[in-house]
Amino acid sequence: MEVVIAAPEELAALAAGAIEQLLTAKPAAVLGLATGSSPLGIYDELARRHAEGRVTFAQARAFMLDEYVGLAADHPERYRNVIEREIASRVDFAPGAVQGPDGLADDVVAACARYEAAIAEVGGVDLQILGIGSDGHVGFNEPGSSLASRTRIKTLTDQTRTDNARFFGGDVNLVPHHCLTQGLATIMGARHIVLIATGRAKAEAIHHLVEGPVSAMWPATILQHHPHVSVLVDAAAASRLQLADYFRSTYAAKPAWQGL
Ligand code: GLP
Repeated sequence: MEVVIAAPEELAALAAGAIEQLLTAKPAAVLGLATGSSPLGIYDELARRHAEGRVTFAQARAFMLDEYVGLAADHPERYRNVIEREIASRVDFAPGAVQGPDGLADDVVAACARYEAAIAEVGGVDLQILGIGSDGHVGFNEPGSSLASRTRIKTLTDQTRTDNARFFGGDVNLVPHHCLTQGLATIMGARHIVLIATGRAKAEAIHHLVEGPVSAMWPATILQHHPHVSVLVDAAAASRLQLADYFRSTYAAKPAWQGL
């Protein structure tokens, strides 16, 4: 696990750089896309680099992490629409290249199995972008999630519904109770995971992720078992890391050729 502590713009540029590098080496790469506010800087940077002709997504595919259950197809906060707005429509993905779990499916179990099969069919995710919830969730894998979980329906905690109410006009009652999410084992299948977090509200979750014992109580801690995770945090999100000085000096001494 590599921890980079830097300003938010620098973190977004680092993540976008890793994606640009991947797509240059492997134009048909498979990306994992996350919603939430954390990845927005990365998406802005990718859109900018695409407009400059530095990166194309024409042959790439992407899979979303999660989706609310039951939000109408045209609801602006349906994650499929958020991803379309924030990144897919701003670059050149081919039609149908971006997929997400079907939060409107009649048969939720079958929809989740189909989603797992679709990811497997393309050979898995090359680079997964992740945010983290203040309670340590990744995707929508709330505390108590099985560390071996696959895509399935979950019930959101009150904490997550309160955190996400800002996207629903501040009204927690409008935030759905259920979601479909890639499981922790699904996420662990990605070959490179880039997790980005900023702000003091994430400091405790980042401390557990990097330095805590692996536990379903802090689901992101499963990433300690992954061989290639980049944790990108600003000073506020890093403020509870005991090893912050070590991470800063390691990054300062990092060979330029190494990349994330
Ligand atoms: C939601 C998403 C997660 C995201 C988290 C943090 O619950 N399902 O994928 O990581 O929120 O969101 P934010 O980045 O807005 O803090």
